[in-house]
Amino acid sequence: MIHIRCETLLDYTAIAEVNTLAFGQENEAQLVEKIRYSDRYISELSLVAEIENVVVGHILFSYIDLVGKETLQVLGLAPMAVNPQFQRQGVGSALVQTGLEKAHTKGEAIVIVLGHPQFYTRFGFQPSVVYEIESPFPVPEDVFMVKPLQSYQKKYKGKVVYPAAFDGV
Ligand SMILES: CC(C)(COP(=O)(O)OP(=O)(O)OC[C@H]1O[C@@H](n2cnc3c(N)ncnc32)[C@H](O)[C@@H]1OP(=O)(O)O)[C@@H](O)C(=O)NCCC(=O)NCCS
Repeated sequence: MIHIRCETLLDYTAIAEVNTLAFGQENEAQLVEKIRYSDRYISELSLVAEIENVVVGHILFSYIDLVGKETLQVLGLAPMAVNPQFQRQGVGSALVQTGLEKAHTKGEAIVIVLGHPQFYTRFGFQPSVVYEIESPFPVPEDVFMVKPLQSYQKKYKGKVVYPAAFDGV
């Protein structure tokens, strides 16, 4: 029913549409484009969800900085969008699950997200403060979350810094 695969060039318009519909504004669609053309983009971690060959959802993981004793590149999950007509049918969950599996296979250590706690905690995300990771935004602790993967080590702590592509979102 729900098919998850990597984005291709042919999906760019549909991805922009899904983001604009889900967020009700164009900022996130523009964010996807800015990241895509930056050095933080990871093509295999920009995933689309299809139902009957129509793109109904999208998730993007890209590199952001974790600045502690050293600066480490970690995965930031943003944005994620499901066409409102297809929400609450498991599409978002399938995108997160497949993305986390691919990130794990790639040997990534940690994923960071700003989002709905009741949604992300079901995938093992926890408030970032649990891992001594600080949000760059003045938001409640429970909405800034991290999910450590198998290659997580204690050195992954410090303050998160988002690249310029995220300015203005
Ligand atoms: C958040 C989003 C990606 C989830 O996708 P989805 O396909 O609806 O997700 P699933 O069907 O797998 O899971 C549904 C769960 O998502 C959560 N959820 C969905 N929309 C939500 C909202 N507006 N506020 C809070 N939680 C929400 C709920 O926990 C819901 O569980 P429930 O149906 O048992 O209450 C989708 O609703 C969306 O695109 N929202 C608008 C854009 C957005 O906010 N994106 C940022 C995500 S941090």
